[in-house]
This record gives sequence, C-alpha cells and structure tokens, in this order.
Amino acid sequence: MELKSLVHWDDNLSVGIEEIDQQHKILVELINRLYTAIVTSTTDKEIHGILNELVQYTVIHFAVEESLMRIFNYPDYDTHKKHHEDLTHQVLDIQAKVLSGEKKVDLELLNFLRAWLTNHIMGEDKLYTPFFLNQGLHAKWSKKTSLAGKIWKFMHLG
Ligand code: FEO
Repeated sequence: MELKSLVHWDDNLSVGIEEIDQQHKILVELINRLYTAIVTSTTDKEIHGILNELVQYTVIHFAVEESLMRIFNYPDYDTHKKHHEDLTHQVLDIQAKVLSGEKKVDLELLNFLRAWLTNHIMGEDKLYTPFFLNQGLHAKWSKKTSLAGKIWKFMHLG
C-alpha cells in the first residue's frame, strides 16, 4: 500500500528560484518522512533521527538564505532573519520536548510543522523573489551561476 504524504509540493510553494525550491523540497520531504514514520510505527530512535535532520537542515537552509540576503543587501534582511530565529526556536523547542518525552511526534505536531514551513515559504520567502531575480540570481538552477550552491558547499566543507 502506498502511503500518502502530508505535505504536497505544488507551484504554490515555489518561490520561483529553482535552487531555493530544491532546498524547500528537502524540508518538505523530511516532514513527510516523519509522517510516514508515525503512520508505520517506526521506532522512536528513527523518529528522533529524522527530527534531528529536520533541525539541522533548517539551520543550514536559513543560513544559506541569510547569506544571499547579506550578499545582495536585501532591504528586509532583519525582518526575515527574525522570522528565521523564531522558526528555529520553535523547532528546537519541539525537538527538546520530544527528546525529553514531554511531546510525542503525532499528527497534531506534524500539522504544526506543515504550517510552520509552508506559511513561511508562502508568506515571507516569496517576498524576496523579485529582489533576488532583479539582482541577477537565476530562476533556473545552474552549477556555473549558483551562488547558493557555493555557500552550501562552503558550509558542508566546514
Ligand atoms: Fe526558506 Fe526563509 O526560509
């Protein structure tokens, strides 16, 4: 039996910059993996592992976006960064409560995470698209022109 996913990627979630969309798709996939894990009664250890990936990837993705904003002098950088800080705080709080046993990864928590991600993409991330495109960021992903890719690689090489 094929399991349905909780978050469905569609054009409403696209910010119109393929490379950033790819990173958002990874966040969507991690929430869907958590959903599959609870539906299939996966072990707590595996659920904690996926939740940890979600936390780590969130931190990295936000850092990539903020680096791009600083490079191009995005006028709403401070506001966007504050949103990122609040969202990071929320997901870290969830992780701490899940690890301590105070919270369970259940449908209610996953619905919160779905809104946590999709509201930010559709509400705040989409606001930067015209600015970034105007600054020369490419809508289509390309290895040669990828600034986000360079930042990403730098972060991964530590
Ligand atoms: Fe895609 Fe502002 O996070």
